Amino acid sequence: MPLLEVNGLQVEFKTHDAAVRAVNGVSFALEEGETLGIVGESGSGKSQTVLAMLGLLASNGRASGQALYRGENLLGMPAKALNRIRGNRLSIIFQDPMSSLNPYLTIERQMTEVLELHKNLTRREAKKRAISMLEAVRIPEAAHRIGQYPHELSGGMRQRVMIAMALLCEPDILFADEPTTALDVTVQAQVLQLLRDLQRDFGTSIVLITHDLGVVAGLCEKVMVMYGGRVMEQCDASTLFAKPSHPYTIGLLRALPRLDQEGGELAGIPGNPPNMAHPPAGCPFHERCADATAECGERAPALEAVGTHGLRACHRPADALITRYQEQSHV
Ligand SMILES: Nc1ncnc2c1ncn2[C@@H]1O[C@H](COP(=O)(O)OP(=O)(O)OP(=O)(O)O)[C@@H](O)[C@H]1O
Ligand SMILES: [Mg+2]
Repeated sequence: MPLLEVNGLQVEFKTHDAAVRAVNGVSFALEEGETLGIVGESGSGKSQTVLAMLGLLASNGRASGQALYRGENLLGMPAKALNRIRGNRLSIIFQDPMSSLNPYLTIERQMTEVLELHKNLTRREAKKRAISMLEAVRIPEAAHRIGQYPHELSGGMRQRVMIAMALLCEPDILFADEPTTALDVTVQAQVLQLLRDLQRDFGTSIVLITHDLGVVAGLCEKVMVMYGGRVMEQCDASTLFAKPSHPYTIGLLRALPRLDQEGGELAGIPGNPPNMAHPPAGCPFHERCADATAECGERAPALEAVGTHGLRACHRPADALITRYQEQSHV
């Protein structure tokens, strides 16, 4: 049994003028110790996919489908049972640590509270555990820092504290929603290295949300590319980088700076993601896709297996797209 198995997840928001289907039939499995990247531009449904599983949707949102954690469906689970799992077996870190840390409480207070609640530790034991976790995320002088308030720490350090807090109860799965976006490039690299180390040392499974395929390359074994609430392509990360088979994935890869092609032009994907209150008919990407045909505007392609490659949702032949990409990028 996979650690986490998501089947046909849908998320719908009620708004005054329309029902917004933010996530439309997402399915994936996560094995123990595995790292999955969820990639896509802004608004593609990445965050809502994860928030839905953790019961954290806004009040106008509703999730359906299945999200089985060790065989138990998280969707529709009573609040009490879900609370016990959340923050203990499943943890989440967000992009902006300041929005999740309480500015009025010391780091010690925020960390020990979690342990007292979920692990029944005494204040003293909890503090010891909290300090060792701060050391694990390489906060220098952890025993001193733990007495400080969030604003006394740098942005990179606050993000480390967030990660330490998320890992306190040794969760099975760490969901990280754009954990490095707000940080400068050097600190980004350090935080990613930290996640890699933690995964090695604690065997934590990670679901990493990012709009940056470069981040996926460094950390993830599997990747799921989302657009307009749907999965466009889903496969091993190494396959995705060597043989992308979906025009959207190819567009994202083209937008990545490449160290070996200095001065080369960076081609972003022209146009903007769709307004999910009024999504286009057919494939959500067809309006921006240079390869689209009439069929693409009429019928949304199903997510189907392509040989041993993985899964993709596209009407155009995979082989031709892969070959063209490889020729044009000289890989
Ligand atoms: N409470 C809400 N009411 C209505 N629509 C919502 C609500 N929350 C999110 N949405 C819509 O759901 C869609 C998916 O949002 P989501 O937050 O998952 O995007 P994302 O892929 O995480 O993007 P980003 O990279 O910007 O974080 C968006 O179109 C968004 O506007
Ligand atoms: Mg998001």
